[in-house]
Amino acid sequence: MIQILPAGIDQIPLVQKMATETWPSAFGKILSQEQLAYMMREMYSTSALKEQMEKKGHRFLIGYEERKALGFTSFETNYLEKPHLKIHKLYILPEAQGKGLGSRFLKALETRGQKEAMKSLELNVNKYNKQALDFYYKMGFKKFREEVIPIGNGFVMDDFSLIKPI
Ligand SMILES: CC(C)(COP(=O)(O)OP(=O)(O)OC[C@H]1O[C@@H](n2cnc3c(N)ncnc32)[C@H](O)[C@@H]1OP(=O)(O)O)[C@@H](O)C(=O)NCCC(=O)NCCS
Repeated sequence: MIQILPAGIDQIPLVQKMATETWPSAFGKILSQEQLAYMMREMYSTSALKEQMEKKGHRFLIGYEERKALGFTSFETNYLEKPHLKIHKLYILPEAQGKGLGSRFLKALETRGQKEAMKSLELNVNKYNKQALDFYYKMGFKKFREEVIPIGNGFVMDDFSLIKPI
């Protein structure tokens, strides 16, 4: 049975472990090794995750099957003071992909968004992450913007912004 449960400071090591297992296969062919290492540090160091949880209002959920953590998501409601639920992260372990957990997370986020009077789900995805793009299109998201975001050290995130009304 799959369970989706809230995660906090105590689960930071678990989130870091899952990110380390997911990122190389998701982005190894899209980003340089240097950019991958830089983004892992910037987004998944203990201090960065604490700041996301405690200061930035990002909420985290972990998906478990028989107590084994298989993936995680993080999100923020009222993003930029608008009725949007922004999905910041959504990662499923390579061995658990394609079994329905990603769509379970999206459904859970949609339900939370509706409860909190949000009008849409939004997210950014790397333009070249075809696997994720196909997944989101299948789940009803539409592209509404292209965005090149400087993230420091001369690196950029080359993204599409996607939206799904809820
Ligand atoms: C993208 C990701 C979140 C999808 O989650 P998942 O658990 O693998 O997807 P699901 O099993 O829930 O798939 C849901 C539906 O999308 C479809 N789908 C999934 N991946 C697909 C792909 N690459 N191409 C086409 N359809 C796809 C499935 O067939 C399924 O359709 P169905 O319900 O008709 O069978 C997951 O694969 C992942 O973490 N990938 C690596 C990390 C990443 O890129 N994250 C996104 C960063 S923005």
